[in-house]
Amino acid sequence: MTEPRKLIAGNWKMHGLASSVAELDAIIAGLPDGADVSLHPPLTLLSAFAARADGRIVIGAQDLSPGVFGARTGDVSAAMLVDAGARAVIVGHSERRAFYGETDAQVRAKAEAARAEGLLAIVCVGETEAERDAGAALAVIAAQIAGSLPRGSGSDIAVAYEPIWAVGSGRTPSLGEIAQVHAAIRARVGRSTRILYGGSVKPANAATILAVANVDGALVGGASLTAAQFLPIAEAGARGAR
Ligand code: PGA
Repeated sequence: MTEPRKLIAGNWKMHGLASSVAELDAIIAGLPDGADVSLHPPLTLLSAFAARADGRIVIGAQDLSPGVFGARTGDVSAAMLVDAGARAVIVGHSERRAFYGETDAQVRAKAEAARAEGLLAIVCVGETEAERDAGAALAVIAAQIAGSLPRGSGSDIAVAYEPIWAVGSGRTPSLGEIAQVHAAIRARVGRSTRILYGGSVKPANAATILAVANVDGALVGGASLTAAQFLPIAEAGARGAR
């Protein structure tokens, strides 16, 4: 069976101004063949980035609200994201779970809303350092998968395993630990659902992490902000698919 193309997703978080379109241009100019690449700028840039990218790279959002239209001050729905040019959306990122108290049920509702509008939903799961130290990582992740993934997910969903202690810290699990978690997730989702690893992915570690069994891509935060850092990771993804 041929492996699916790797998906390299760049999460800009709360970074980026209108002037950042120069970085988008540099990323598009250097894109390798052979990997799927998405970039998730802040909402303020979504429409401009999507127009600029013109289908050469997937532009996605970082969150959404379930529902279509309504009295939800400050919220943006899947239909609005599609209208702005988005083709993908991150849901349940650990920062949203931690800072805004998002529950598994809310994450699932968001993923289902995204799917209903044809957006790829990248659903994030991952354990805290205390949970890993207590030997509970696999149980925590299994519960998050059971609670936050839409039922019957296929290629319209990706799962991102992001150990919370690895996000933005410069630390990563061992390759064996990544393999163990990805195998456990694979046992719960079909082959067509891509499983990404996220947390301190850099040009220096991307190739080895992407070579681990059941790692179908990467969700990249800090290193996605510049073409200089993001393109080597996309390259590693393209090489991994060959
Ligand atoms: P990082 O963030 O690559 O900066 O660790 C990853 C993420 O939060 O998606």
